[in-house]
Amino acid sequence: MNQKKHHDTDVVIIGSGAAGLSLALTLASHCKVLVVSKGPLKEGSTLYAQGGIAAVFDKNDSIDSHVEDTLVAGAGLCSRDAVYYTASNAKSCMKWLIKQGVPFDTERDSTGRERYHLTREGGHSHRRILHAADATGKAVQTTLISRVNEHKNITLLEKYNAIDLIISKTDKKNCQGLYVWNRSKEQVETISAKFVSIATGGASKVYLYTSNPDIASGDGIAMAWRAGCRVANMEFNQFHPTSLYHPELQNFLITEAMRGEGAYLKRPDGSRFMPDFDERAELAPRDIVARAIDFEMKRLGANCVYLDISHKDKNFIIEHFPTIYEKCLSVGLDITKVALPVVPAAHYTCGGVVTNFNGKTDLDNLYAIGEVAYTGLHGANRMASNSLLECIVFAHAAAKDILTKLDNSESSINNVIPDWDESRVSDSDEEVVITHNWHELRLFMWDYVGIVRTTKRLERAQRRIELLQQEIQDYYANFKVSNNLLELRNLVQVAELIIQCALSRKESRGLHYNLDYPEQLKNPKPTILKPNQTNYNEF
Ligand code: FAD
Ligand code: SIN
Repeated sequence: MNQKKHHDTDVVIIGSGAAGLSLALTLASHCKVLVVSKGPLKEGSTLYAQGGIAAVFDKNDSIDSHVEDTLVAGAGLCSRDAVYYTASNAKSCMKWLIKQGVPFDTERDSTGRERYHLTREGGHSHRRILHAADATGKAVQTTLISRVNEHKNITLLEKYNAIDLIISKTDKKNCQGLYVWNRSKEQVETISAKFVSIATGGASKVYLYTSNPDIASGDGIAMAWRAGCRVANMEFNQFHPTSLYHPELQNFLITEAMRGEGAYLKRPDGSRFMPDFDERAELAPRDIVARAIDFEMKRLGANCVYLDISHKDKNFIIEHFPTIYEKCLSVGLDITKVALPVVPAAHYTCGGVVTNFNGKTDLDNLYAIGEVAYTGLHGANRMASNSLLECIVFAHAAAKDILTKLDNSESSINNVIPDWDESRVSDSDEEVVITHNWHELRLFMWDYVGIVRTTKRLERAQRRIELLQQEIQDYYANFKVSNNLLELRNLVQVAELIIQCALSRKESRGLHYNLDYPEQLKNPKPTILKPNQTNYNEF
């Protein structure tokens, strides 16, 4: 018989990407930290990040310019304070990453002095992206994993899937811990902690085509919502313009830095089209580029458009984009000679769990950091390479806040969390229900709630969501949990939040484009949803 297990710690962090591991490392010299990750420790969007991280390192650049560019990309919906806070902490956070050992690319200036090589991406008016060739995320993730492995105060629980937060019966603002699904032992275990931080990444897997890895099922957003936290701006899901369109290499991202270094977007007949849509051409913010591609594909009945950097020097291309060069070559595409077939794919969740500048949510001891959070930084459209930056800046802010409260917080050892009750559930008899619903959800989200929307399509999606939610809830109540069931339950919840937000925005702005409301409102506001019926595990 499986033995039930209870874990106890000072701080539990759900997620081992850039946000979770940065928080763990910043806290670990002061307290005991437990990091839970759903898959292998390294698996998450961070590992796949290509372009880099934005920070002002060039003497001709300025924090004000980083702020202005972010505000412009965010299409009038960023919180200026959040943007300023992030941009002004960027350099020190990058120095922290460098100290951890992240090998950002360097170059020699005209006097022979070494400096960081800065690349450029859409929306940035300066070169300000630190990067490790075209595999920045891998450099960040593997470096942070090495550091956490060395730390005796950090315990790592790999292949543990957080199910739900546990809220105190007497104090609804107090999160006592969580239930986790131990995937290897196939049993539910409990974790109690003084502080809980969600760092579970985004929710782009709610769409059929995505650049994200499988873990991106919006678990943290759904969990926080069920626990009573506000969620904001879910209508702004970012579609990256250039994901490779190839049967053998699906959803492989082609970094925006390639356009930053001079690549052109072309129609199937070889003509450029971005200058017809925006004066910044290929370097317009992502929402504009993705919409232009969508428009051209629909207009021409084309399966894809093309991204061409072959006019640049071969050695330059291979030096700057070694990962993309090798990957594409493996399926017969030589980027130094031919244009790459590309399509947009769901890439980034701009909205999320509402937090303050310390990463704190609506609950007193619950934090949310990284892509799962809504801090006000991204507005209606995230500017390239501001995401990894947000992970580090808010991980540091959350650590600072937690440390000021740690000594006065009550020990979690006294938390008597009841074991998970499985007495009324049986093994799933119809796994097909899960696989079918999974596919149906992602398909109608793509078709009805994608790059270009209409109210009719959104309402159609909403009706389907209601049915799916009912079916999945019945299934959840009657059968033992599994990874797929847990993720599906969360994906449906997140999809519902996206649709709710999209229906309530009566304008087109940034990533949300509704043909029935093509204009922009004069005084736009973020969409903030408040759960009116909390649905949590309390004790
Ligand atoms: P992630 O790195 O996604 O980590 C999430 C963690 O949460 C994982 O460990 C996962 O296992 C865990 N988790 C999730 N659910 C659960 C659960 N229920 N229980 C337990 N654990 C759970 N941004 C940039 O700034 N620059 C770039 O160049 C860039 N390039 C990108 C390229 C690609 C292909 C992609 C997909 C994204 C890119 N982004 C980039 C975005 C950026 O990578 C992400 O926003 C960022 O890495 C998110 O970090 P995170 O720590 O919040 O989440
Ligand atoms: C890319 O490299 O194009 C992704 C950058 C980002 O998402 O910030």
